[in-house]
Amino acid sequence: MKTPALPPTEHQPRPYTGPSPGDVLALRKQFMNPGIFLYYKKPLMVVEGRMQYVWDEKGKRYLDGLGGIVTVSVGHCHPHVIAAGNKQNELYQHSTTIYLHPNVSQYAEKLASKMPGDLKACYFVNSGSEANDLAILMARAYTGNFDIIALRNAYHGGNHATMGVTAHGTWKYNIPQAFGVHHALAPYPYRGIWGYDDPQAGPNYANDVKEIIDYASSGRIAGFIAESIQGVGGFVEFPADYLKNVYGYVRAAGGVCIADEVQTGFGRTGTHFWGFETQGVIPDIVTMAKGIGNGCPLAAVVTTHEIAQSLVGKVHFNTFGGNPVVSAMGKAVLEVIEKENLQENSHKMGEYILAGLNKLKEKHKIIGDVRGKGLMLGIEMVKDRKTKEPATAECAQVLETARDLGLLLGKGGLRGQVIRFAPPMCITKADADFLLEVLDESFSRLG
Ligand SMILES: Cc1ncc(COP(=O)(O)O)c(C=O)c1O
Repeated sequence: MKTPALPPTEHQPRPYTGPSPGDVLALRKQFMNPGIFLYYKKPLMVVEGRMQYVWDEKGKRYLDGLGGIVTVSVGHCHPHVIAAGNKQNELYQHSTTIYLHPNVSQYAEKLASKMPGDLKACYFVNSGSEANDLAILMARAYTGNFDIIALRNAYHGGNHATMGVTAHGTWKYNIPQAFGVHHALAPYPYRGIWGYDDPQAGPNYANDVKEIIDYASSGRIAGFIAESIQGVGGFVEFPADYLKNVYGYVRAAGGVCIADEVQTGFGRTGTHFWGFETQGVIPDIVTMAKGIGNGCPLAAVVTTHEIAQSLVGKVHFNTFGGNPVVSAMGKAVLEVIEKENLQENSHKMGEYILAGLNKLKEKHKIIGDVRGKGLMLGIEMVKDRKTKEPATAECAQVLETARDLGLLLGKGGLRGQVIRFAPPMCITKADADFLLEVLDESFSRLG
């Protein structure tokens, strides 16, 4: 059995003197909602983080291959982002948008400069669920139509509206949340009707959206929402020309196109700053969260001034959205991405790791598919390559072994059969080699 070595780091974690994981777990059981789930048989407690690494209470270091669920974009406690937050915290913490404050306006200007086309009107909120909820409201208010088309295998959040557009039974409660929502076929080449070898896969999947418009709606819809790569669904990349065709059908039916960039934004896909750009489209509304704040509660809906006008006439308000502290931190995140060329690093590291994963696929039969872009990479595990039966238990076992070896990974897919790798975008080649070695060892130990 091999024990791959983590690349060295200069950071020394502080000695931990707080309560033990057992005590923390007991408090959690007593005072927190049991619906909140934990990873790992023996729950992990992380007490410190620096860039791509985190430390548990015993001082054991891990490469963070999930980045707080695709959220720590530029690195844990990045000094530039932390300094921006601390400086503002000491001066003036909370305002709301009823008064002017330079931070939120300047941040909006900077964020808008990253957007293509007429996407220049920002509305800041606190989470991805809130952003998607607001985007759906805008789509309905702007078009005067009600029907929304979303995709199977999508995850858009856990509040009422976004549970409705989410299409994973595992995340849906038995309440009437999807009123007016239709779910089209997931453009999922590995499992869907049209596979990787079909050049017409994109247009064929897109045609299902057209059929929903024709068969299941009045012919007039409010909009279409999709992640640019399905995240929770297991990092499913759409075939070429999928969104281009869908956007045409949606706009012809009076709808607007919403891109959920909560996981794919901010350079993570490597080749582009936004995931939708990989499909050659410009949406009408873009939602973003997670990586936008590198861990601070910040999210946004960016649209055109014309669509943004739909909120005027009624009162719409969000207490914390874009407060002076998170605006300063959000701006600092953009500065770091630019200064440290993190999009380019995502591209380089992503290509390197993907090549390594393809080699692992040749060696380990349990790997059915490897896919993704930049630092958003998935490994779909199957018991049998012909039947594609999901290897759920084995996937969980790989996560456990990798954790023991010093690597944190994520899970995804309807059956928890996809390993997800989405680390902070500052990882190095030495980290990538460590990841590949740990994965090889973890697959080998499955026997
Ligand atoms: C693509 C996508 N959209 C929306 C959300 C919801 O974001 P939040 O948990 O911040 O509400 C998530 C969360 O995982 C997500 O992955």
